[in-house]
Amino acid sequence: MLEGKHVLVVDDNLDIIVALSDFLELNGCKVISATTGKEAIELVKNEKIEIAILDVRLPDINGVTLLDIIKKENPTIAVIMMTGYSSHKDIIDAMKKGASDFLLKPFEYDNLIMVMIRALRERSLLIEKESLFKNLEDKKKIELLNRELQSKIKELTTMYNISNQFNTLNIYDDVYDKMVNIAYDVIGASLCRFYIYDSSSGEPILFKEKRDANEDLAEDKIFFTGELSEWIRNPKRYFLKDDIMVLPIMIKGELIGFLTVKKKRNGLEVISTHQDSDLFFLKLIGEKASSQIENRILYESLFDNVFKTHMSLITAINKRDSYTENHCKRVNDMALSLAEKVGLNNIEKDILRVVAPVHDLGKIGVPDEILLKPDKLTDVEYEIMKNHSILGQEILSQFEILSRESVIIRNHHERFDGRGYPDGISGEAIPACARIIAICDTFDAMTTNRPYRRAVSIEDALKEIQMCSGSQFDPIMVEAFVKMILNGNHGNK
Ligand SMILES: [Fe+2]
Repeated sequence: MLEGKHVLVVDDNLDIIVALSDFLELNGCKVISATTGKEAIELVKNEKIEIAILDVRLPDINGVTLLDIIKKENPTIAVIMMTGYSSHKDIIDAMKKGASDFLLKPFEYDNLIMVMIRALRERSLLIEKESLFKNLEDKKKIELLNRELQSKIKELTTMYNISNQFNTLNIYDDVYDKMVNIAYDVIGASLCRFYIYDSSSGEPILFKEKRDANEDLAEDKIFFTGELSEWIRNPKRYFLKDDIMVLPIMIKGELIGFLTVKKKRNGLEVISTHQDSDLFFLKLIGEKASSQIENRILYESLFDNVFKTHMSLITAINKRDSYTENHCKRVNDMALSLAEKVGLNNIEKDILRVVAPVHDLGKIGVPDEILLKPDKLTDVEYEIMKNHSILGQEILSQFEILSRESVIIRNHHERFDGRGYPDGISGEAIPACARIIAICDTFDAMTTNRPYRRAVSIEDALKEIQMCSGSQFDPIMVEAFVKMILNGNHGNK
């Protein structure tokens, strides 16, 4: 049972050391020894020791003190004390400091074996307990780290989702609606509202809201208290009233409105209170929404400037050729009506609104003798005239924010069967706005008197358009166009 065990024997009596070492080695132990406390401490620090047998009386330090030092250095070493006389106090002290047993000299070697076996059993239990305890501690630490990591991941994912939802908004999306929806979902709200602040009247105006089915329809009382008026004077931070959190939405230091968020009740019908994370996410939502609103204000003022330039281009076209002026107006009216009939979305309708009145913008670059020629154009002249779609695109693309519109100008003479110009694209590869302008443009040209050709009747023009359905024009759009004209909308001619 003692085979291979590392034993330290400490006694100032060399005879005892020799006798004990011989006996223990006979039992398979690996023995090292010391005659002083100092020597013993060095050995404990540097050697592998599983069990130590210490004499209480040593020349330099007391055996009980040595026991204490050993246990502090390595608590797993089993220590057996031995003494030539029995001192009650030594025994108690030694046991308190962690001694496994006490042997009174002279002792039977068999007794020593028994004591050593018991001490080693205790030691292995201690090691096992320490290992279990360490595992438990490690497990607890890992669990804690895991929880922290999970919550960090959740927080980062939420932050990413908030940023991503705002970053992917396009200029036609309702940023206020988005802000209310994101706040409602992220906070787990039962009621989320955005109020515009009317600084002249000092009254908040409810602009957007999202509520769950159980939420009371009554107005928030919060806005009619003096506390909120007080807060509005310096709305740097959030305002919390009962279970409603109010977050200011500021643009360049000016309060433009506020977001109010009421948390959902949990299953026990206890009102959940707002946490720090709610405030953190609401602030992020507020910041992202403010920056989107600010960008829109900038965009609108930029667009306003571009639109003024755009209008001056229309005037320039009209000054050269009164036919083009009226033609563009009629095409614009018909194109917008047709866009409605075929269900174009708001983005496309806005594009059409900009591009239809200037679809022949490129004619600015066509010489007067060709543009205003009363006779039919020669082939060469026709080629020059055809170039107006590319020229129009080049002019409009100078305005970066009109890049989508410029593409429509380029493609307004494409044909559905791919035999148009300038790119020869076909079908739905031609933008819907360009397919619309193509029909309206042709119809208006046919039904208007030109110096070299008399106008045809509306009925004949419609027949011609229908004959070209699927070849020159998109058949779905032709069908909607014919119905629209027969219902009396033909560009206020
Ligand atoms: Fe044209």
